[in-house]
Amino acid sequence: MKLTTRLTLALLVLPAAALYGQARIKIDTDRVVGQVHPHLFGNFAEHLGRCIYGGIYEEGSPLADKDGYRKDVMEATRGLGVSLLRWPGGNFASGYNWKDGIGPRDQRPARAEHAWGGIETNRFGTDEFLTYCERLGVEPYVCINAGLGTVEDARNWVEYTNDSRNTYWANARRKNGREKPYGVKYWGLGNEIDGPWQLGHKNAEDYSKFALEAAKAMRRVDPSIKLIASGSSNFRPGADWIGWNRKVLDSLKTEVDYISLHTYIGNQENKLESFLGFTQRVDHYIDVVDGLIKAAQSGQDSPNPIYIAYDEWNVWYRKRGPDKGNTLEEIYNFEDALAMGGFFNSFFRHAHVVKMANLAQLVNVIAPVFTNKSGMFLQPIYFPIAEYSKQGSNMALDLLVSSPTYKIGNRAPIGYLDVSGTYNSKDRTVYLNVLNRSESQDIASRIDNVVGQMEGQLEVWEMNHPDLKATHTFGDDRKVRPATRTQSVSIANNGFSYTFPKHSLTILRLKVRS
Ligand code: AHR
Repeated sequence: MKLTTRLTLALLVLPAAALYGQARIKIDTDRVVGQVHPHLFGNFAEHLGRCIYGGIYEEGSPLADKDGYRKDVMEATRGLGVSLLRWPGGNFASGYNWKDGIGPRDQRPARAEHAWGGIETNRFGTDEFLTYCERLGVEPYVCINAGLGTVEDARNWVEYTNDSRNTYWANARRKNGREKPYGVKYWGLGNEIDGPWQLGHKNAEDYSKFALEAAKAMRRVDPSIKLIASGSSNFRPGADWIGWNRKVLDSLKTEVDYISLHTYIGNQENKLESFLGFTQRVDHYIDVVDGLIKAAQSGQDSPNPIYIAYDEWNVWYRKRGPDKGNTLEEIYNFEDALAMGGFFNSFFRHAHVVKMANLAQLVNVIAPVFTNKSGMFLQPIYFPIAEYSKQGSNMALDLLVSSPTYKIGNRAPIGYLDVSGTYNSKDRTVYLNVLNRSESQDIASRIDNVVGQMEGQLEVWEMNHPDLKATHTFGDDRKVRPATRTQSVSIANNGFSYTFPKHSLTILRLKVRS
């Protein structure tokens, strides 16, 4: 056999990854998973530590406006691309009496707070929160008290915020200076009620009964609201998270629009690759709950969709636990910024069912923005979140990805490259989001395109740093930031080669011509 024939045959049998590099990503803009809902860039503000008081709100501060909202924090929130804000908790929600937080501020009661300890002054309440959302142009999401609260409290809260009729609670809102209803659309039916740490913790059956009645009563006031059931608070082995979600979905399947999931991760073992391997678990968690939704709805003719609201997620382990105080003031480093990409990649890969996600939290408390009385700084995790938010409303793509793998314990092999992709058909731009979790290897990759002709100019956004533990502080928040550049690549057979550096997060924007 001639050498050229042998070479051609070899080319035909070798997998493409072996031909072109260690990894392969194939883009096909016809293969759509679902739309990246803008609410994937939601956030969360809880009455906890310095998130509200001293973060969002600091009356009398020279950095605040006349109503007490910190202007620097508002600006940082805009820059982060926040679309929706969950409030007032979290664990706090399960002991909160919303009626304490309305009316003249000086007459509001200060109460002992039992979720996190301390005193709640109630100077920031429903009107302050909803006004804040309006000023920022973000969608409010209010979580009711399904712990120690009552169905009646929940119903009245909707009446206070949304009713336009001549009713007691709508009139209370008017008396407090707000004629027009706020029209709060998103309501959480409690927070982490499966957790024994929760005030008013319930078993799945008791929770479902409560939530069903609360849903009914709240919808009688405003049938247009969207409801989020309290799903499992985590997916620890040993916790019956499947049982909880199954029961809640079976009981509430005709009443709710979302089920919530929460995940916090940590690098306690100080091993980058296993830390960043968390996406394997998040993917699994979502897949299982997606299956439970389908199972609960099977047999219904045309069920209303139920989506997943991943309404708490982040890295949280340093300031966590009984001996760590209750401020949750994590100082984030470069490797935590990489983890942000992993979370969004998982959400994008499941864009058909994950339609809301809320980073926990916005400021000071496990947050991308950190303040003191005289200023603020942006933590390294701020930058990937802000960049990913630009992909809201794009179509998430079902990419073909192969990359060298590694193992974490006895789990299935996992690729070093964690990838998602989205497409904006208006400007014919594909976004490739690539996390290289390898601590030591750059990964040479071949990127191929199926529909339309790729152009050879890339917009590259990249976060990388030689020190995985590099952090920011006041006056020094520029070192762990992304670099951007325009790069030419040579296109051959509608594809190109690109090397993703070790421990990096890269977003490539590439144009496709028809
Ligand atoms: O975000 C911090 C806490 O984490 C929330 O209050 C609770 O819902 C979760 O356990």
